[in-house]
Order: sequence, then structure tokens, then C-alpha cells
Amino acid sequence: MKKPDNYIFVIFGGSGDLSKRKLVPALFNLCRDGLLPADYVIIGLGRKDYTDESYRQKMIESIKHHGRNTSNDQHILEDFSRHLYYHQFDMNQPGAGFNIKNVGMDFHYSDLIGEGIPEAYERLLLDSLLGDGTLYARADGVEAAAQLKSISS
Ligand SMILES: NC(=O)c1ccc[n+]([C@@H]2O[C@H](COP(=O)([O-])OP(=O)(O)OC[C@H]3O[C@@H](n4cnc5c(N)ncnc54)[C@H](OP(=O)(O)O)[C@@H]3O)[C@@H](O)[C@H]2O)c1
Repeated sequence: MKKPDNYIFVIFGGSGDLSKRKLVPALFNLCRDGLLPADYVIIGLGRKDYTDESYRQKMIESIKHHGRNTSNDQHILEDFSRHLYYHQFDMNQPGAGFNIKNVGMDFHYSDLIGEGIPEAYERLLLDSLLGDGTLYARADGVEAAAQLKSISS
């Protein structure tokens, strides 16, 4: 798939354990492997009182501690950390430093991704529309139907 020109990642719970131990180290791995676009921003959201700079330091420590060996990647790590930002907010307090505005949601896949819909995706949609509905049944539904059948037979 074509790499997009830019990206904004927003991590709800960016100050939490999952972020520190898994998400940010995984994003760093993508960066190191050249799989992130040239322009990207990673915004961590949480209640803790970090500044952008203290959040960057915290995430650098986490990547070193929980990620793959970074001893040869100091420059990449510093460059990656400059893409990290932190925004403090409490979801239980709507309005507290939160500016909400309407956004246009009228977008098309090809505008967003920059290429046509992959064939596999088309096939999946087509199969779902034309195919055998039982192939898409949930396990609990199949179970219930089997019980009904065994009662009636
Ligand atoms: N940790 C793992 O390895 C792991 C693995 C798989 C799945 N998960 C799942 O991932 C989710 C997060 O896990 P976690 O381990 O990261 O938990 P955690 O360490 O308790 O972190 C929770 C995150 O949510 C933020 N948060 C909580 N209440 C908030 C509020 N009212 N407003 C704004 N931010 C709020 C916290 O901000 P502050 O800390 O700044 O208050 C923190 O960043 C959980 O559903 C967990 O089951 C975790």
C-alpha cells in the first residue's frame, strides 16, 4: 500500500502503561524500519501533567526499556521523539480546555489513501453482499440455530 505523505496519530491514554510498553515502542520500530511517512505527529492524551518535553523524555526511557535494543539508534530515537506531543485533558470534564468544532466528513477512500480500493477489499464487500449469509454468522447465533434444529428433529 502507498505510504501516505503525512499522518497524525492520536493515542487516547498516551500516558498509560499500554502506550509506554507497547504502542510507542511499536511506532518507534516502524520509524526505524522506514515505514512511517516523512511527516507525522504522535499526540498522547492523558490526565498526567506532562509537557511535550517531559513526555518525550518519558517515552524515550520507555522505548529503551521496553523496545528492541536501541544502542545504535540514538539519532533515530531523538528524531522520533521530536514528533511526539502531549495534550493533558480529563475526559470526565467536557469543556475543560477542549475546543470542539465541526469537521467535514465527506471524504472518499481514494482521496484519503490516494489509490483505488484494493481488489481483496472489493471481493470481501461483494462476497458479503452476494454470498452465503451463514458464512458471516456469529458463533453464538450458529450455536442457537443448532440447538433449535436438534429440538425440532
Ligand atoms: N497495558 C497493557 O499491556 C495492555 C495490553 C492490552 C490491552 N490493554 C488495555 O488497554 C487499555 C489501557 O490500558 P493501560 O494499561 O494503558 O491502562 P493505564 O496504565 O491505567 O492507563 C490508562 C490511560 O487512560 C488515561 N485516562 C484514564 N481516565 C482518563 C480520563 N478520564 N480522561 C483522560 N484520560 C484518562 C490515563 O491517563 P493518566 O494516567 O494520565 O491519568 C492513562 O493514560 C485498557 O483497556 C487495558 O485493558 C492494556
